[in-house]
Amino acid sequence: MLFTSITLNSICLLFPSANTYFFMVQAQGIMLRDNVRTIGQMIRLYTNKNSTLNGTDYPDGTNSSEYLAQPTTYLPENFTYAQNLPCPERLPSMKGLMEVNMTEVPMEVIEMKFSKFFGVEFGGQWKPKDCRPRWKVAILIPFRNRHEHLPILFQHLIPMLQRQRLHFGFYVIEQSGSQPFNRAMLFNVGFMEAMKDLDWDCLIFHDVDHIPENDRNYYGCGQMPRHFAAKLDKYMYILPYSEFFGGVSGLTVDQFWKINGFPNAFWGWGGEDDDLWNRVQYADLNVTRPEGEIGKYKSIPHHHRGEVQFLGRYKLLRYSKERQHLDGLNNLHYSPHISLSSLYKNISVDLYPELAPITEY
Ligand SMILES: *[C@@H]1O[C@H](CO)[C@@H](O)[C@H](O)[C@H]1NC(C)=O
Ligand SMILES: *[C@@H]1O[C@H](CO)[C@@H](O)[C@H](O)[C@H]1NC(C)=O
Ligand SMILES: *[C@@H]1O[C@H](CO)[C@@H](O)[C@H](O)[C@H]1NC(C)=O
Ligand SMILES: *[C@@H]1O[C@H](CO)[C@@H](O)[C@H](O)[C@H]1NC(C)=O
Ligand SMILES: *[C@@H]1O[C@H](CO)[C@@H](O)[C@H](O)[C@H]1NC(C)=O
Ligand SMILES: *[C@@H]1O[C@H](CO)[C@@H](O)[C@H](O)[C@H]1NC(C)=O
Ligand SMILES: *[C@@H]1O[C@H](CO)[C@@H](O)[C@H](O)[C@H]1NC(C)=O
Repeated sequence: MLFTSITLNSICLLFPSANTYFFMVQAQGIMLRDNVRTIGQMIRLYTNKNSTLNGTDYPDGTNSSEYLAQPTTYLPENFTYAQNLPCPERLPSMKGLMEVNMTEVPMEVIEMKFSKFFGVEFGGQWKPKDCRPRWKVAILIPFRNRHEHLPILFQHLIPMLQRQRLHFGFYVIEQSGSQPFNRAMLFNVGFMEAMKDLDWDCLIFHDVDHIPENDRNYYGCGQMPRHFAAKLDKYMYILPYSEFFGGVSGLTVDQFWKINGFPNAFWGWGGEDDDLWNRVQYADLNVTRPEGEIGKYKSIPHHHRGEVQFLGRYKLLRYSKERQHLDGLNNLHYSPHISLSSLYKNISVDLYPELAPITEY
């Protein structure tokens, strides 16, 4: 996500309630994103959402068939599962909008609940028994200092993934040491470690503070990389710019190798998701998004506490294409401390720039 706060404060004095939007206008201005071209258009969006959006989905510019309004038919309640057949994607158990409860809850309570009553194996894996899971999904969660967020995420995600009949496993990749947070490199580490466990076929890159609101947001992969978190409450449920790829995204293992993973060079928050978007484009892939209400997420409030933003991101983003094959899975080194917890595998790793050497651009 691209942010700048240089002129934000002055704009917020004029429109105190609209800061989220103007935040995004700033990002637009700098990167010349074309989803929202003018402040006027932004104000129209803000003051009368209907006239511009009409309650429909946001086009992503690729005119993907995802956006052609399809009648969404889910299987009827009396659908019978068969152990030897693939689990369908549109199950009667997927009801749509879910209650989101952000109340903090102790991890022990959640661990007890899901290991005792929901059948999650020690270490965080689960698979359906009444049909053959369509996808083996590794959920990678980069982590530092957010212990109270993790149980909230599990509480919502586990029942949803079980209703979707996916084989899943959770990996929490925690950055130790004192370097700025490197979300992207943590994903690369999580990927390499997860693949040692099982031949996962689908990877979900999941921020710990993003809670899905709709259980029809199917966490399987597809022909194209997928951006699950299309509508965030913190951006008033619109896509901040058409290339936005943050929050929660998913790629098949093949797609992830093809783009050489995430960049390792983004120290501090911001920009690495835009670089991933660029990598996907340069690999001739498109991004699909869930339609309508399905892509809604709530974010657990926080304020990048203690984490610095990455000021060098604009420079790196200019060379996404050149850097793609120099920096990523192919120059990654690390030494993890691995332990199992009830609901996840804990991959703790100290990261510093020398672990992913690259000639400076
Ligand atoms: C937006 O659309 C909904 C339904 O389409 C309608 O009920 C509502 O009044 C509209 N709001 C505005 C501000 O036009
Ligand atoms: C908005 O939606 C209404 C009803 O769904 C439709 O009749 C109208 O043509 C739409 N307007 C635009 C600009 O798409
Ligand atoms: C991606 O989208 C563009 C624009 O719609 C299209 O021309 C291209 O064929 C798509 N690429 C793939 C691999 O489907
Ligand atoms: C988008 O798709 C629609 C329906 O297939 C088509 O009519 C339209 O020309 C396409 N627009 C672009 C920009 O490709
Ligand atoms: C299942 O329910 C649908 C309607 O929801 C009905 O049309 C169908 O006959 C039912 N099938 C069985 C096997 O009961
Ligand atoms: C939210 O979760 C807390 C802790 O689990 C629980 O005490 C509370 O009743 C829940 N609230 C709602 C509205 O379900
Ligand atoms: C992961 O393991 C490390 C020790 O290697 C521990 O300090 C940390 O608290 C654990 N993190 C989580 C989220 O369980």
